[in-house]
Amino acid sequence: MTDQPLWHGRFDSSPADALLKFTQSLSFDKRLWRDDITGSIAHVRGLAHAEIISVAESEKIILALNTVATEMSSGKFEFVASDEDIHTAIERRVTQLAGDTGAKLHTGRSRNDQVATALRLWCKRELAHVAKLTLDLCDVLSTRATESGWGAAGDYLPGYTHMQRAQPVLLAHHFAAHTWALMRDLDRLTQTIERLDVSPLGAGALAGSSLPLDADFVARELGFSRRFNNSLDAVSDRDFVAEALFDIALIGVHLSRLGEEWVLWTTQEFGFAVLDDAYATGSSMLPQKKNADIAELARGKSGRLIGNLTGLLATLKAMPLAYNRDLQEDKEPLFDSVDQVSLALQALGGMIATAKFNTDAMKSAADAQLLGATDLAEWLVAKGMPFRQAHARVGALVSKSIRDSVSLAKLVEADDELGKSAAELLQPGVGVSRRTTQGGSGPVPAVAQSAELGAALTVLRTRIAALINSR
Ligand code: ARG
Repeated sequence: MTDQPLWHGRFDSSPADALLKFTQSLSFDKRLWRDDITGSIAHVRGLAHAEIISVAESEKIILALNTVATEMSSGKFEFVASDEDIHTAIERRVTQLAGDTGAKLHTGRSRNDQVATALRLWCKRELAHVAKLTLDLCDVLSTRATESGWGAAGDYLPGYTHMQRAQPVLLAHHFAAHTWALMRDLDRLTQTIERLDVSPLGAGALAGSSLPLDADFVARELGFSRRFNNSLDAVSDRDFVAEALFDIALIGVHLSRLGEEWVLWTTQEFGFAVLDDAYATGSSMLPQKKNADIAELARGKSGRLIGNLTGLLATLKAMPLAYNRDLQEDKEPLFDSVDQVSLALQALGGMIATAKFNTDAMKSAADAQLLGATDLAEWLVAKGMPFRQAHARVGALVSKSIRDSVSLAKLVEADDELGKSAAELLQPGVGVSRRTTQGGSGPVPAVAQSAELGAALTVLRTRIAALINSR
């Protein structure tokens, strides 16, 4: 009966083609095969441990499961039309290989706890990989920060608010800002992995089993740190997928902000960065073009990553307990988000690692005198003037400078409250060195920050290495 679904028992006729086509998930859940086999081996060991099947029987089924694993990894596994999903395909083949003994594989188990188990195993491994790729990008950014210099001699560029030049900042400080954001993403991913590290195996279809299964035993076998507390929750919970999709969507949003910045930096108008040819694209029509398509796609793909999250949340909304077939819709967005963010992290990392900076263009933009206006106001404050008055006084000079096309420094020099030594603040390279607040962009706090950043990265590196080694 290999042309019939595994559940054909109570049915008089074969399933309609349209049903098979619409309900199948094999086309996308194939990639869970490794995790399904891992889950099945633990389940079989659990059945033997509980003396529901004999040890000899368990060995025979495990042998068949290992044969399936070999067939899968060599691409020799033959699927048949009635294989609805990877789970039924594997069970069908095991039964083919191990006969009546193989038919004991699904004892005390439902696809509902089986699929949740496989998906959690998949997430543990693949999210750790996403974390590693995110860490790699953090390393690229922090390396570029260090190359550009954390101290007084460091490169600097204009910092912007409202996309208007505001104050000069160290380039290292700027790179580090993106790095801190990605490190929060990493922290979040590791917490998601820890939270999803729960075995649902033993929950059965929804209520557990009357057989003497040992859910703690199989949880340990699978390397999960704990088992489910409630079988209804175990089979209907997809919080972990939603969380993973959120974590990835937020990484995507952070990458989109980086991407947007690089789109701007590589314009002729900004001219702050030049991409390596290997990480830029040309135009099919305009021979002169060198485009930052990686940066644009990093920006563009974030929409899709957000869509995957909101799509799943909409699927989960108002879904009654416990398992419903709707839940099959969890996999495609998850796989897509993991795939897309992995590609984006690597492409963006390569692009940033290999780009050249036009630090003269950055500096000359940052040395524009207007960016020293706040330093002038703070200089007056240090002399005892209330800030609001200082702000107004400097503001009036700025206005006059723009209106009359006179350099701000000249006006400052002539001002009886400010004068020559205040005008020194507007000299190239002075402004960037002025900020002293902890965590600020001046060279002294920036050097301290570089140590904090390095220490935080080391902690994350250790956590991620432990997650990768634990699987
Ligand atoms: N392919 C299904 C999924 O991914 C497996 C579970 C089906 N369970 C069921 N009772 N029909 O969710």
